[in-house]
Amino acid sequence: MLSNLTIRLATPADAFAIAALSRAEIEHGLPWAWREPRVRRAIADPDINAIVLGPPGAVAAFGLMYYADDDAHLLLFAVHPARRRQGVGTALLQWLEAAARAAGARRIRVEARMDNVAARSFYNEHGYQEGAIVRALYSGRLDGVKLEKWLCSVG
Ligand SMILES: CC(C)(COP(=O)(O)OP(=O)(O)OC[C@H]1O[C@@H](n2cnc3c(N)ncnc32)[C@H](O)[C@@H]1OP(=O)(O)O)[C@@H](O)C(=O)NCCC(=O)NCCS
Repeated sequence: MLSNLTIRLATPADAFAIAALSRAEIEHGLPWAWREPRVRRAIADPDINAIVLGPPGAVAAFGLMYYADDDAHLLLFAVHPARRRQGVGTALLQWLEAAARAAGARRIRVEARMDNVAARSFYNEHGYQEGAIVRALYSGRLDGVKLEKWLCSVG
């Protein structure tokens, strides 16, 4: 399944492919916020872990995780439609969770569109608890749900 593809850190050469996947698979129906220049800045940001699966030009999946204080925030995450339900998303999420633990993060936060059944099921399956529903979270148009996963016991 993943044997011929390795998860690796993203490089600037991956920025276009990440932006295109974000446009098609995450930001569809919304203004395109994660264009190539912004993705390039994120890849260069020392507070962001940017990972991909697949070679430049054939990126099959990616994840961007931002660190602030004790929290990690999954900013963008997608698997190419042709590679879904094969454990690719799970492999990337586990990589990012291990990195977050190693970095000392106590919690991972993420948001999903309310109507994104696949993402909500995926995160639920991986121990993310759904919290507040935020009306018009996405560009003032679409409702979202906040999810979080604690990586260690609170207190
Ligand atoms: C959500 C997403 C990342 C899942 O990636 P994936 O590689 O297909 O996930 P996996 O194969 O690792 O799935 C693990 C488990 O998550 C759940 N899951 C994944 N996709 C699902 C779906 N479409 N419907 C219901 N459950 C789903 C299942 O429990 C699945 O296990 P199973 O296949 O044994 O039933 C992928 O569908 C995607 O990229 N969606 C578009 C972008 C997106 O929504 N990103 C997240 C925005 S916050």
